[in-house]
Amino acid sequence: MHFSAALALASVALAARPFLDEPDTGIDDQLGQIVSNGSLAPLKSLVGLPDFQWSARHYMNTSAYTYYRNGAAGEWSYRNNLEVFSRFRMRPRVLRDITNIEASLPTTILGYNFSAPFFISPCARGGYANPDGELGLVKGAAQGNILYMPSLYSSKPMKDIYAARGNGSQQVLFQQVYLDGGMNETQQLFRDIEAAGAKAIILTVDSPGDGIRHRAARYSVGSANSAYSLLTWDLYQELSKMTSLPIIPKGIQTVEDAREAVKQGVKAIFLSNHGGRQLDTSPSSLEVALEIYNEDPEIFKQVEVFADGGVRYGSDVLKLLSLGVKAVGLGRPFMYANIYGAEGVKKAVDILKYEIANDAANLGVADIKKIGPEFVNWKSVNGWFS
Ligand SMILES: Cc1cc2nc3c(=O)[nH]c(=O)nc-3n(C[C@H](O)[C@H](O)[C@H](O)COP(=O)(O)O)c2cc1C
Ligand SMILES: *[C@@H]1O[C@H](CO)[C@@H](O)[C@H](O)[C@H]1NC(C)=O
Ligand SMILES: *[C@@H]1O[C@H](CO)[C@@H](O)[C@H](O)[C@H]1NC(C)=O
Ligand SMILES: *[C@@H]1O[C@H](CO)[C@@H](O)[C@H](O)[C@H]1NC(C)=O
Ligand SMILES: *[C@@H]1O[C@H](CO)[C@@H](O)[C@H](O)[C@H]1NC(C)=O
Ligand SMILES: *[C@@H]1O[C@H](CO)[C@@H](O)[C@H](O)[C@H]1NC(C)=O
Repeated sequence: MHFSAALALASVALAARPFLDEPDTGIDDQLGQIVSNGSLAPLKSLVGLPDFQWSARHYMNTSAYTYYRNGAAGEWSYRNNLEVFSRFRMRPRVLRDITNIEASLPTTILGYNFSAPFFISPCARGGYANPDGELGLVKGAAQGNILYMPSLYSSKPMKDIYAARGNGSQQVLFQQVYLDGGMNETQQLFRDIEAAGAKAIILTVDSPGDGIRHRAARYSVGSANSAYSLLTWDLYQELSKMTSLPIIPKGIQTVEDAREAVKQGVKAIFLSNHGGRQLDTSPSSLEVALEIYNEDPEIFKQVEVFADGGVRYGSDVLKLLSLGVKAVGLGRPFMYANIYGAEGVKKAVDILKYEIANDAANLGVADIKKIGPEFVNWKSVNGWFS
């Protein structure tokens, strides 16, 4: 009797559970009255990455904001990407010497030095947030000394983005591509990418079909890549012969494909469900990383593993790194931050570095590069963080 009453109550509580696309940490209380729609919240008032979304939602017009914000179909993957991190509790250790934690933030990605183990994932149409398009992203990445991966469908031409590189044009960029043209076009594209100075090619493999995007369809702002595209591992081998740059598959979503990629000789794999924008109910990269860790953990040693989707806090980054992920990507937070140009992007970089270092300290991690899966309880609590 008591038991079923409790169950009934629990189901009511679950039914009422709101989806927290923007968790309430008080920004609306502080700025809701003074920031009218179409105006920009002061950058100094933003304290975390989700605040950039709040700011974007008020500043961008609905169709432009919707292009950035949308996920596929019912947006179950979009929501899961955000919520999955709270389903696994941290296992903080105490009384550890964490005084060198900040010095352990820098890392290498494919052998290139960066100040932190996170990067800007490739996102199309930077011009929706800022008339300078991707220039704020490339400059902000340079100022923060992190990796940026420009999208093939950027608003600015590739040459303009690469011309804006910092550090005497030594700034390292990896170029994302969609391939659905013929081999001649691809050869020309690869030549252009090499001439521009990219250090790797990120080949998106999770989008052979159009993303079913209901939210975006209402405003005619669907995928920048809507045609069917033919990609196979045989073709991957052909493509590899057409460039001296490593070609990294982006959008690996199972341990089988991770294994196959290693067998095919890739230098790195990129776990991603495209920010929940392609196949709805596809897994988050944390779930894929966990699958790989459980079934074939050697993969994390055989190749570098990158992962993105739903990362908004330092603790999210730490959970991915703890499984063996080398570097973590963020898409939307940087696209929203680019409303403020390089200054906003740099602020987002600084916020995330600060959170990673301090969360690691609170977790009792002495060296971020030595974080292991023992810092997380991988038994999912299968509910929201309460
Ligand atoms: C507005 C937008 C445009 C995107 N365009 C591309 C793209 O051109 N190529 C690509 O491989 N991924 C693209 N993505 C996916 C991102 O690279 C990345 O996987 C995703 O944004 C990560 O999830 P997050 O936004 O929750 O961080 C795009 C994502 C967004 C939000
Ligand atoms: C501003 O936009 C938000 C979210 O898009 C909406 O909830 C709110 O009602 C809008 N306010 C005004 C004054 O239009
Ligand atoms: C990367 O950093 C290491 C260690 O700080 C340094 O020895 C190396 O020269 C750097 N590599 C590049 C390409 O700057
Ligand atoms: C919304 O903003 C984008 C980017 O600035 C612009 O291209 C578009 O025309 C705007 N749409 C509307 C309906 O105002
Ligand atoms: C600038 O480029 C040099 C040479 O490639 C590299 O060693 C250094 O890390 C870079 N610094 C920044 C801040 O990007
Ligand atoms: C591709 O290029 C080759 C050699 O330059 C040429 O013979 C061929 O006709 C081209 N194919 C297409 C489809 O353009």
